[in-house]
Amino acid sequence: MFISFEGTEGVGKSTLIVKLHAFLQAQQREVVLTREPGGTPLAERIRSLLLSTEQQEDIHYDTELLLMYAARAQHLAQVILPALQAGKIVLCDRFCDASYAYQCAGRGLSAEKLQLLNQHFVARLPDLTFWLDAPVDLGMQRATQRGALDRFEQEKLSFFSQVRHGYQQLQQQEPSRIKRIDATQSAEQVYAEALQHIQQFDGF
Ligand code: TMP
Repeated sequence: MFISFEGTEGVGKSTLIVKLHAFLQAQQREVVLTREPGGTPLAERIRSLLLSTEQQEDIHYDTELLLMYAARAQHLAQVILPALQAGKIVLCDRFCDASYAYQCAGRGLSAEKLQLLNQHFVARLPDLTFWLDAPVDLGMQRATQRGALDRFEQEKLSFFSQVRHGYQQLQQQEPSRIKRIDATQSAEQVYAEALQHIQQFDGF
């Protein structure tokens, strides 16, 4: 089972992932906890390039998209696909939906570019995706409290509103895979809702 977690900044993805990981481990399930961009040594190096605020030049939006997919190709081949083949549960902090929300809805790149990349380089989509949704100003307040902001977190609120709208479009297109969870609820309520979806999932 492949589960991904999405949302704009500061919506509580990490807290939810830690709680679900603990629950699944207590059920004696083998779980792989990973994230994008990242998840392998090489993909983590690409992540550092993408998130760094110390850039010698502006990163072109196409370059940003392709770096996301370079990291993803490596992550899929080295971590996600082998884990799924071994019957493990993969919990992944962000996946392809983030590329649509950030690079297409946020940056304005065409959905066709993304479809092409998905078609050629993404052999497997998540079975279940949790979209943690909250007003963008609320999330940014939380992200700011965490410390120094990365290259994405430094974007304007209007950028995150577009990203949020992108997630909303995806959820409307694929309601059976993508579950919206109101992230303004308490962490306990968010966890209870996510757990219910997992337990209802065929094959869990
Ligand atoms: P994180 O802060 O949730 O770890 O994610 C890192 C940042 O990368 C986050 O601001 C969203 C961004 N991102 C994209 O823009 N496109 C993608 O495909 C992925 C996976 C992440």
